[in-house]
Amino acid sequence: MSFQDVFGTAPDGSWRAPGRVNLIGEHTDYNDGLVLPIALPNRILVTAARRDDGRIAVASSGHPGVVEFAIDELAPGSVGDWAAYPAGAAWILRESGYPIGGANLLVDSDLPSGAGLSSSAALLCATSVALLGLRDIEVDPAEVARLAQKAENQYVGAPVGLMDQMASMCCTAGHALFFDIRAMATDQIPFDPPADDLALLVVDVKAPHRHVDGEYAARRQSCEQAAAELGVPALRSIAFEDLDDALARLTDDVVRRRVRHVVTEIRRVEDAVTLMRAGKLREVGPLFTASHASLRDDFEITVPELDVAVDTALAAGALGARMTGGGFGGCIIALVEAAAAEPVLAAIEKAFAEHGFSAPAALNAPPSAGASRVS
Ligand code: GLA
Repeated sequence: MSFQDVFGTAPDGSWRAPGRVNLIGEHTDYNDGLVLPIALPNRILVTAARRDDGRIAVASSGHPGVVEFAIDELAPGSVGDWAAYPAGAAWILRESGYPIGGANLLVDSDLPSGAGLSSSAALLCATSVALLGLRDIEVDPAEVARLAQKAENQYVGAPVGLMDQMASMCCTAGHALFFDIRAMATDQIPFDPPADDLALLVVDVKAPHRHVDGEYAARRQSCEQAAAELGVPALRSIAFEDLDDALARLTDDVVRRRVRHVVTEIRRVEDAVTLMRAGKLREVGPLFTASHASLRDDFEITVPELDVAVDTALAAGALGARMTGGGFGGCIIALVEAAAAEPVLAAIEKAFAEHGFSAPAALNAPPSAGASRVS
């Protein structure tokens, strides 16, 4: 589907924003914690042309039809379905006082949706940079990420944290993005497994996302309840050394386990970054595995497909493996010796066939660059 075919004119430019996988630090972002994502080569591409009537028309290669709305009339929830994301981006830019104008937008994607790779954040970020770029408005990438999160929270109504948008905007090729949410500080950590004869295997377990929105909101709510009970602004305020004391002060066992996940996971991110900086990448593997156990047993967001993929990868010799993303489906990552990548993947495929699961799909995931203008 070409822009010319849909809108009858040539575009003024195109902008891309990638999906991500998180190496470690799951479900800590909305607790003011630490995360360590890489951007994928897969991206959402928005091709765009200015229009001067204050209206936005958006078409997508993945969905039939064109959705059109006036920027002035946007209000939370006013546009539904997939077009809520581009509409939400326009809404938050307008609300924040950026002088965007009307546009025709064509959305294209090679980012699997529903695989926990953050296609929604990528769509919000790609639309935002396109609408800003069309008017030559320069905005700091971290600010675009913050606005995209606000749009997802307030326009779409999903209570997500800031990791995915930051990954999409601020990652660089060959690096993982170490993002401290409380400090709003980022550091680019060189991450190049092949240079150490290693590989990062990313496998989409193709499990249908089950109740993911409600479960995500419930986890967030438990964390907020715990922080309130403990009298801190967010669980990040609980130091690893004080964890046992904090757990003893909580009455509900489920809440206690949610807290233990968050506090230990933040510690694992610190440990992973220290090891990566020291060039000890192989030693990061056990942290991945410990993270998975915590997400499975304490945070309770894994599903059988994720657990089987991780267990099989480890049994087949992976140095470490874990689910990545929001949970309830999506992808696992496994750190493996380069020579073991194929046998580990084959073992997962065999185990999935034996369990009667859908066939999993491996993704090529070299750490890639964040959002940019393409043409
Ligand atoms: C989803 C959310 C993120 C983050 C992860 C879990 O991807 O969008 O903000 O909370 O889940 O780490």
